[in-house]
Amino acid sequence: MTILALFLALLISTLLHNVVVHGENYSYVNEACSVTRYQDLCVKSLSSYSNNAKRSPSRWARAGVSVTLSEVKSVSQYVNTMTSGGHMRGTRNRAALADCVECIQDALNNLHKSLGVLKRLNNNGGFNEQMNDVLTWLSAALTNQDTCINGFEGGRKNKEITSLCDKVQNASYITSNALALALVNKLASTGLQHYLGANP
Ligand SMILES: *[C@@H]1O[C@H](CO)[C@@H](O)[C@H](O)[C@H]1NC(C)=O
Ligand SMILES: *[C@@H]1O[C@H](CO)[C@@H](O)[C@H](O)[C@H]1NC(C)=O
Repeated sequence: MTILALFLALLISTLLHNVVVHGENYSYVNEACSVTRYQDLCVKSLSSYSNNAKRSPSRWARAGVSVTLSEVKSVSQYVNTMTSGGHMRGTRNRAALADCVECIQDALNNLHKSLGVLKRLNNNGGFNEQMNDVLTWLSAALTNQDTCINGFEGGRKNKEITSLCDKVQNASYITSNALALALVNKLASTGLQHYLGANP
């Protein structure tokens, strides 16, 4: 309860802060992104959804996962060209790269499953369970990407690996933002009144 109360207090204070700082330019996307950790990236990657999503937490959650999926797809293409190039030096880096390919594939699967559920979210029954699944899969996708990056630690990094890790890192920031948007969707639809009413 306390953590949720803190989360809500933080949510409300960031919201107010953003209204004050951004003034007249404060828009739906700023509002939605105010709960995310990487706000600039969030606004940049999601601004095109603003008119459609407005104040709908479920649409923002879907948009967040949708842009994450395309970002991770592009990472996947990049890492695949690296493996097919065959000029990766060092056994250690080759092994890390092979692991990374697998991790990114797992991340893609987790994101596909999440988007599938968000597209047919059911507000009547099973919503809570569906959102718990989505949160679990998004966290897993985040872990998949961290695992890829950590695999290269300790090895000698060349330019290609550094660039790959930057891309994966960027995708993981976007995933983290999507996770925050999904959490808000869960709280907004199921918990808010319940948690606000349940004072310890
Ligand atoms: C709002 O955006 C316009 C155009 O981008 C800019 O000129 C203006 O300074 C902004 N206002 C605030 C309060 O940030
Ligand atoms: C990070 O993601 C954003 C949004 O998709 C993109 O514009 C930017 O080029 C990416 N940066 C890197 C280093 O991949």
